[in-house]
Amino acid sequence: MTELAIPALSLVALVGISGSGKSTFARKNFAATQVLSSDAFRAMVADDENDQSASTAAFESLHFVAGKRLAAGRLTVVDATNVQEHARAGLVAVARAHDVLPTAIVLDVPEEECWARTQARPDRHFDRRVLTRQSRDLRRTIKSLAREGFRKVHVLRGVDEIESATIAYERLF
Ligand code: GTP
Ligand code: MG
Repeated sequence: MTELAIPALSLVALVGISGSGKSTFARKNFAATQVLSSDAFRAMVADDENDQSASTAAFESLHFVAGKRLAAGRLTVVDATNVQEHARAGLVAVARAHDVLPTAIVLDVPEEECWARTQARPDRHFDRRVLTRQSRDLRRTIKSLAREGFRKVHVLRGVDEIESATIAYERLF
């Protein structure tokens, strides 16, 4: 069992390519209301969780709600791929604006496995190239998360580590 220490009040960014198990991990380890998912926000603003053209509006809304939660002292988990530095920078900025520590939990699952899962999913219809691009983005930046401002970075490699991980809350004061 791996215990992932995270500050009791933090902004937790899940990081992983599509199919790596972010939403599954979030469901298992956090309360539903603590989790802000980019899919849910796309659905809210565009009636379609897969509508990528709605991403700007979806993330603006997600950041807004995350800010309100952090202002109220509520742990907030962001369920989005977060494989690109600019996406993570938006989250670091929201956390900093509220004096909250940003934390990253990386789900590092082989692209092959994620692709196999994706093909079995009725709710995902994208090209393999999308996954390859996400993998490349993640590989390029996985080592720079601490430099980007994430105060804690947990990297879970493979299904066993992900399944056995539990969250341990640290109270800082
Ligand atoms: P996106 O929302 O597309 O970015 O994917 P995601 O990272 O949220 O993945 P999700 O949690 O939706 O999982 C994708 C698929 O993999 C689902 O069909 C899950 O049931 C399956 N899955 C997730 N985690 C695990 C796991 O630990 N083991 C196995 N065997 N399957 C898993
Ligand atoms: Mg998901």
